[in-house]
Amino acid sequence: MFPINRGRRLRQTPEIRSLVRETRLDPSELILPVFFDANIDEVKYTDSMPGVPTYPLSGYESITKDILDSGVSSVLVFGVPKKKDSVGSDAYSDDGVVQQAIRGLKGALKDGEELVVIADLCMCEYTDHGHCGVLRDDGDVDNDPTIELYGKIAVSQARAGADIIAPSGMMDGQIDAIRTALDMEGFENTPIMAYSAKYQSAYYGPFRDIANSAPSCQCHARKDRATYQMDPANRREALREIASDLDEGADIIMVKPAGPYLDIVREAADSFPVPICAYQVSGEYAMIKAAARNGWIDEKRIMMESLIGIKRAGADMIITYYAKDAAKVLRGE
Ligand code: PBG
Ligand code: ZN
Repeated sequence: MFPINRGRRLRQTPEIRSLVRETRLDPSELILPVFFDANIDEVKYTDSMPGVPTYPLSGYESITKDILDSGVSSVLVFGVPKKKDSVGSDAYSDDGVVQQAIRGLKGALKDGEELVVIADLCMCEYTDHGHCGVLRDDGDVDNDPTIELYGKIAVSQARAGADIIAPSGMMDGQIDAIRTALDMEGFENTPIMAYSAKYQSAYYGPFRDIANSAPSCQCHARKDRATYQMDPANRREALREIASDLDEGADIIMVKPAGPYLDIVREAADSFPVPICAYQVSGEYAMIKAAARNGWIDEKRIMMESLIGIKRAGADMIITYYAKDAAKVLRGE
């Protein structure tokens, strides 16, 4: 009696394994988050995010060279402004930190070089209370005035040269408001990458260390984002959010975080015939880094395994702090 089916037949050599491999990663599918801080003159690092630089508003040539040399061709840009205020004015100023950074990055490209610059659109890095919009008297975010400001932010980012606008605030109607504002200013060809299913996650902690953007001020504001980001327990709600963003004109939809929400990535990919992005967030990265630094895991292998898992779940593209390192591995460096 011999087994008829022997899975091992197709696992015998690297070449056969490669022949039957179902999922592959390519550097062109990786998006690197980059941070700019208007308050610094030199590159800065954050303890909880080893290897993730925050750049000053200068030195763009070496930044773009470093990224393009790794094989990565897309970035997601975040900014830390000089001054935060209650209405996040720096977010929609033509001279704001992120607008300057976008112009700097685009201006540093040489003939024939291309870098897809995606602008994260939110207000939490820009408000003194750390919320993703303007507040009502009761301390909760005021939805409709906020999405009007989102429209202004989108236009200023597109004017600065952003290729794609990525709203992450989880306000109702934000895609519609942004699409309308962009179209009215002649940016009808600027795509929107919607953070559609963004969960209220503890995995954003290290990001908030970088951006100093936790909703934590001593004023009357709520101390968390539970009234706008999604409850981690919900699956069908994610499908509703995605469907609604697509109705409002989203071009790419996102699930965030990625690793702990792979079921949502899979279901989104099966349910909607649009490009799916997944964001491997700061906490996912920081946990791998921490374990690796203790010598408890093989960082390179865990990095690649976490990314192929996200891809296998159905993501077409992945935002990851490992983008450059993973691209280098993929190119055999
Ligand atoms: C802005 C924004 C956040 C992240 C991406 N865009 C922070 C937040 O919602 O608090 C988190 C990314 C990460 O953790 O890597 N709203
Ligand atoms: Zn925000």
